[in-house]
Amino acid sequence: MYKSDFPYFSNSDITYLDNGATTQKPQVVIDAITQFYTHYCSNTHRSSYGSANKATMEFENVRKQIQSFINASSLETIIFTKGVTESINFVADAFVKNEFDTVIISSLEHHSNIVPWHMQGRNLHNGLEVVNYDSNLEFDFVHFEQLLQKNPNSFVSITHVSNAFGKIQDIKKITKIAHKYGAVVMVDGAQSLVHFSVDVKDLDVDFYCISGHKTFGPTGIGAIYIKEEYLQKVKPYQTGGATIHEVTFEKSTLLDSPYKFEAGTQNIAGVIGFGAALSYIEDIGYEKLHNWEVELYEYLHEQLLNIEDIELYNDTTNAIGSKSFNIKGINHDDIGILLDKQKVAIRVGHHCAQPIMQALNIKGTIRASIALYNTKEDIDKFIKALNRAIGMLKD
Ligand code: ALA
Repeated sequence: MYKSDFPYFSNSDITYLDNGATTQKPQVVIDAITQFYTHYCSNTHRSSYGSANKATMEFENVRKQIQSFINASSLETIIFTKGVTESINFVADAFVKNEFDTVIISSLEHHSNIVPWHMQGRNLHNGLEVVNYDSNLEFDFVHFEQLLQKNPNSFVSITHVSNAFGKIQDIKKITKIAHKYGAVVMVDGAQSLVHFSVDVKDLDVDFYCISGHKTFGPTGIGAIYIKEEYLQKVKPYQTGGATIHEVTFEKSTLLDSPYKFEAGTQNIAGVIGFGAALSYIEDIGYEKLHNWEVELYEYLHEQLLNIEDIELYNDTTNAIGSKSFNIKGINHDDIGILLDKQKVAIRVGHHCAQPIMQALNIKGTIRASIALYNTKEDIDKFIKALNRAIGMLKD
């Protein structure tokens, strides 16, 4: 239905089910980037001739678009970054490092929300706490509250949707409980915006990180929402051109947010492409997008249940996008190789989430991750190829 909007699918006969890693880009995104490079390529916020003004205007229009897209309170709260990894590292270094005794994360975090905390010298039960999960990978709210009680000066950093298992965590409830204990909450939204709408005001999050390339936009672009009350408390992560009000040899004074946080020439084409990707989603509408994905995700789950010796780690409750599994007695890497030979693109391995793999006593999984443009035929092709691979490996 939507594949015709994405040139990748007319140039490739791959069944693409690796959307958790990155999504394909619609023609409108490619056109917006090409238009910038071929018609008004100039730097932003500096020169004041025609095309430079247009570049600045288009760039700032995307900030406005993101503000309204995630219902942020003001333009100042939206800061462009390279993506979610950079956003988390930025907040870890520029805000959390010397301010908080404890960082609380969930069991389902991606390495990008674990390694930055280790780099600060935090280790499990020594500045870093991990919330338990149940047999369906649900977040343990009782344990969370105990951790908050025991650790009064905590920063909570949590993924909205698990990249490996598609599990959706209840951010609104997490934030409500965290705030009751005076904790501050940051959300890794890398895998959310492509599947459902996000309202930062309703969720009452303090920081929310979003990704361009996982949301039909270009690679190397993302943004972070920072609640107004933290804009002064977060130190600029890096400084340079475009961040300053005035510089003398004696001292520098910085501009206000967002500019003080956006040092150097920005990924202008990336921002413009990201805006086009969000417009693409807006044109379709989240309701339609989400309903289709839920149907597809259920279908994928049902088809997998028919496979002998399948090992699943969660059902479809509070889950979307990514589905992880193993086949008893078969190495996930071997399945990956045989699916590739049959032109099915999925990801196998630990999915940059080694700690939860260790906790589940596995080395990794086979992960199929869907997006809006996937179809039931894609799932059927995947299941057929998977059965064939299993047959070959069991012989
Ligand atoms: N974080 C990306 C994934 O889950 C790369 O595959």
